[in-house]
Amino acid sequence: MKIRVEPETGGKKNGYDIVIDAGIIGGVSADKAVSLLNSAAVNLKAGFLAVTSKTVHGLYGDKFSDFLKKCGIENFDFIVLPDGESTKSLKYLSDIYDRLIDKRMERSDYIIAFGGGVVGDIAGFAAATYLRGINFIQVPTTLLADVDSSVGGKTGIDHPKGKNLIGSFYQPRAVFIDVNLLKTLDKRELANGFAEVIKYGASLDANFFSYLESNYKKILAYDEKCLIHIIEKSCSIKADIVNQDEKESGLRSVLNFGHSLGHAVETLYNYENIKHGEAVAIGMVFAANLSKHLGLCGDEDAARIKNLIINSGLPADVPDFTPEQYVNAMKLDKKVADKQIKFVLIKGIGAYEFKMLDFGLIFNYLTESVKLKKTQNY
Ligand SMILES: NC(=O)c1ccc[n+]([C@@H]2O[C@H](COP(=O)([O-])OP(=O)(O)OC[C@H]3O[C@@H](n4cnc5c(N)ncnc54)[C@H](O)[C@@H]3O)[C@@H](O)[C@H]2O)c1
Repeated sequence: MKIRVEPETGGKKNGYDIVIDAGIIGGVSADKAVSLLNSAAVNLKAGFLAVTSKTVHGLYGDKFSDFLKKCGIENFDFIVLPDGESTKSLKYLSDIYDRLIDKRMERSDYIIAFGGGVVGDIAGFAAATYLRGINFIQVPTTLLADVDSSVGGKTGIDHPKGKNLIGSFYQPRAVFIDVNLLKTLDKRELANGFAEVIKYGASLDANFFSYLESNYKKILAYDEKCLIHIIEKSCSIKADIVNQDEKESGLRSVLNFGHSLGHAVETLYNYENIKHGEAVAIGMVFAANLSKHLGLCGDEDAARIKNLIINSGLPADVPDFTPEQYVNAMKLDKKVADKQIKFVLIKGIGAYEFKMLDFGLIFNYLTESVKLKKTQNY
């Protein structure tokens, strides 16, 4: 299947296709990549730098080289970065620039991100900024990157004072998603990506949420058909939102369902020992319960979200920090205005509502309903 992303602000000129299948990289569906490269007018004779991570290179480096050659690409090289969130830094960005300059790459050449969200974010930011913008192609290799980070054009790196503080919106020329690559992901990484899939259903599509409730066991057992279906559905939902609001001036913030508390959880854990999707899972259960508390949705809606998250092996309980710590961490959120935060709540499964919430209300909810111990009053 092919999904078209065409952000309103970019117009048709900046639109691109996402191709999803099993066996694109060196498998039975490799021809789909060739036709996508042709339809995206990719110059196969240009220079290509594939940015990847140690694990992905070890598993798929040779296969990916064969795939590029099969596509007619001969002039390519790899830069292999360490695994982990700490790679999304100025240091490794600078290493990518060094390599691009050493290879004398030009604006008409290409960076390919071949890896998870970390690789996609840093490679995309390098592409956005080197020579004020060089061609960019995404080949995601984790479920999280398939359904979320490779779609929509957010790129960036972290700063020691906060995550994703330096970045840009920069759309790729094409995205290839090969579900076969997910077979080497461990179960925790698969569940991590599944959290973002649950997000789409819980906040935007009730039928999709029901499908996930019925099929989560097959999905988490790497059933190819189910994986292709959830990736297609997630990418279409995200593309539809991004097409209407590329730069997140309004609607796109619905994709932050579960992220306000989720980001605070990640910050309080110092980005160690918790994965992005796991923090979002905790944040979604929190947001659903808060929606129930505010009279927006019923008990059953919040319970269904919590059950699917727990059944998928994801964490659901708010970790034991103080309400002050949570509120202070949330104040760093980009959606904060004055003493309030723009929160994504639900009116039921598949129906979102934006609300500006006072930090005092969140503090009291964390104290009285979540029953976290406070050390001072708000
Ligand atoms: N740009 C966006 O819109 C957006 C959206 C969501 C998340 N993100 C970012 O994405 C990042 C998280 O991405 P992630 O969850 O993919 O983590 P990740 O990129 O760190 O990948 C997780 C681990 O899996 C390994 N791996 C990747 N593919 C593999 C495969 N096929 N088989 C075996 N191992 C494999 C990686 O080497 C890494 O060790 C965060 O930095 C987050 O901020 C960005």
